[in-house]
This record gives sequence, C-alpha cells and structure tokens, in this order.
Amino acid sequence: MLIDIIAGARPNFMKIAPIIHALEARKAAGGELRYRLVHTGQHYDARMSGDFFTQLGIPDPHVNLEAGSGTQAEQTAGIMVRYEKLLTDAPSGLCLVVGDVTSTMACAIAAQKLQVPVAHVEAGIRSGDWTMPEEINRMVTDAISNWFFTTSNIANDNLRRAGIADERIFFVGNTMIDTLLANLPRLQAPGFWGQAGLAPGGYFVVTLHRPANVDKGGAFIRLLGAIAEGTRGLPVIFPVHPRTAKTLQALGDIPASIRLVEPQPYLEFNYLVRHAKAVITDSGGITEETTVLGVPCLTLRDTTERPETVSIGTNELIGTDPAHLKPALDRLFAGAWKKGGIPELWDGQTAGRIVQHLERLLRPA
Ligand code: UD1
Repeated sequence: MLIDIIAGARPNFMKIAPIIHALEARKAAGGELRYRLVHTGQHYDARMSGDFFTQLGIPDPHVNLEAGSGTQAEQTAGIMVRYEKLLTDAPSGLCLVVGDVTSTMACAIAAQKLQVPVAHVEAGIRSGDWTMPEEINRMVTDAISNWFFTTSNIANDNLRRAGIADERIFFVGNTMIDTLLANLPRLQAPGFWGQAGLAPGGYFVVTLHRPANVDKGGAFIRLLGAIAEGTRGLPVIFPVHPRTAKTLQALGDIPASIRLVEPQPYLEFNYLVRHAKAVITDSGGITEETTVLGVPCLTLRDTTERPETVSIGTNELIGTDPAHLKPALDRLFAGAWKKGGIPELWDGQTAGRIVQHLERLLRPA
C-alpha cells in the first residue's frame, strides 16, 4: 500500500521526518507500507526548506509540485490542481497531511474528492481565531479527514464535539517533539554565537511573522521598541521570516540590542532556543518546543490552538499590545516564571504509534 506524505512549508518538515523514519524502520523489518514524499513547493528557499531536509535526514521528495507563493486562494488552487493531477496519473492509497499550512488543506481536499482517504496528523487543535489562515486550514482539513492523529485530549474533545466518532480519533502525541528529542544531542550553535556575545541564559530569541504583528510598520516598530526595553539591553536574536523581512526593509532603524539574522536551520534554531533566557514569539509550534525544553515563552497573540503549552507548559499568552510585554518580562527577570511540565505522550515515540495504527487501518480486507 502506497501512502502519500505531504510536506509544503517549514513547520511541516519536523513533523514528517519521524514518520518517514518510522515507515523506513518498519519496511526494513518486513512491513508492507510504502510512501511517496510529495513536496508542494509552498516553501522553496533553502533556508525555509532544503536545510531542514538535510539536517533532519529527510530523503529528497519523490515529487515536487512547485506551487510557490501567491495569495491564499492562488496557493490553495495551485496545489490542488497539481496534486489532483499527480493522484490521477499515479494513484495513492492514502493522503497523510500534517499541521495546518495551506498545503495541508489543499492536498486533503484534492485527495478526498478523488476518494483517496485522508489522515491528519495534529488534528483537532483550534484557536477559535478565524482571522488566521491556519485556523481555516485546520477546520477544513478536519471536516474531510478519515483518521485523526492528535497531540492532546483537548484536541480529542474538539473533534468529538464536531461529531467525529471515537474510532477515528487516535491520541498518539506529538511528532514535532519526536524530532526535538531525537535531535537534542545534535543541536549546534550558529556561526554568529561567539561574535554576538551569546552565553546560556544571557539572551532572548524572537520570532514574529503573523500578519497582525508584522504587516503594519508603525505597530511593528513599537513592538520592537517594547521588546528592546523589556529585555533590558540583553542581546535579542531575531531570525527573520521572509514575510517579516519585507516589512523590516521599509522600517529604518531598529533598537540596537535586536540582532536580525537569517531564518535558522533546525539544529541551530533549537540550540538558540534551548539556551535562551526566554523566547518571544507569535508561532504555535515553537511554544511546544519551549514547553519540552522548559524555556519560558511569551506568545504575542490573544489566542492559542495549543492551550496545553499554557496550562501545563512554560508558555504565556501576552497578547499583541506592546504595553503587556514589560510587566511579563519583569516577572521573568524576578525569577517568578512558572517551571512547567510536559504534556501526556510528548515522549518521542509518536511516529511509531502512528505507523502502527496505519498498518492496521490500511491492512487489505
Ligand atoms: C506559512 C504558514 C504558517 C507557518 C509559516 C512558517 C500557511 C497559511 N501559513 O506562513 O503557518 O507558521 O509558513 O514558516 O500556510 N517566502 C519566501 N521563501 C520561501 C517561502 C515563502 O520568500 O521559501 C515568502 C513568500 O514569497 C511570501 C511569504 O514568504 O511572500 C509568505 O509565505 P507563505 O508560505 O505564503 O506563508 P507564511 O507566512 O510563510
């Protein structure tokens, strides 16, 4: 049985890597599942894509749909047209999608319309915020998936409330954490570590790319000012996403303690996170990594689809008002940040559990 594994954008790559490794291990042990790795081309730069394949030992994609950038609709349509053609020319027995990026939704729709079953890894999470394209992608993908692999009991409850039968929901844990735990010994300092004067616990990491935070120059510069003030002159390392770079170019001077760097490869980025005093971000996935690493995380959003990173982990929702940053950072500097724990089944074994379920679900009748 052939499975398509879909990967399109940066946050997908760390989620598919352990599933591919688990499938290969089962194949070597006589398992019958085979996979075809389909890269949609949503992210195409080496910094956003290729570096992750190399560092995480992901094989070259069997197919690259080369869909590229565009508006939400252009990107969705481009991926759907190209993936539909692939499935028509060379059929597959399952479409496995991960996460919540546009590629996830687009491939799920194309597959299900051709009656190819869809399995969604990281199903059921919800922020309730319909202004984020990721929330629409999650809702649409979950509405048309056959099988749901989940990271939390909250996700299970969200799916049940949407009428999904228990037999289709599999609480397996978090593949992103499989990758993090497997790579902990391999994390490596980025080249600028020494020159930037970084020392463990002596700097902050910032990542921002949500339109609400970065698309309006005036608000963005106020936010950067609040970050510099609240972090009290310590170095702030800011790996800049391509979308954020566009706004930054027009901004002029930014505070001196904030150091802009290229998007970092996986091993360097998580080295920076692991040793940071804290992370300030508007990402979702990073809040899971900081939770497992026990690093304080301040999320500059009003909602999260990953509430367990707040209720169990080290994450706190600060909102998008820059005025809220300083009081939170003052608590951090006072040593009063919560310690946090690790959510159930975020144990590094998730991909193996997924492959076991797939072998049972896809066994010929
Ligand atoms: C996407 C995901 C988001 C994820 C983020 C992380 C969706 C809806 N959003 O957002 O969940 O957190 O990736 O990386 O899928 N660009 C490049 N080089 C690239 C890729 C993109 O320059 O390799 C540019 C594009 O031209 C575009 C911008 O970055 O102008 C945004 O890219 P896009 O993939 O549309 O969405 P992201 O904002 O990256």
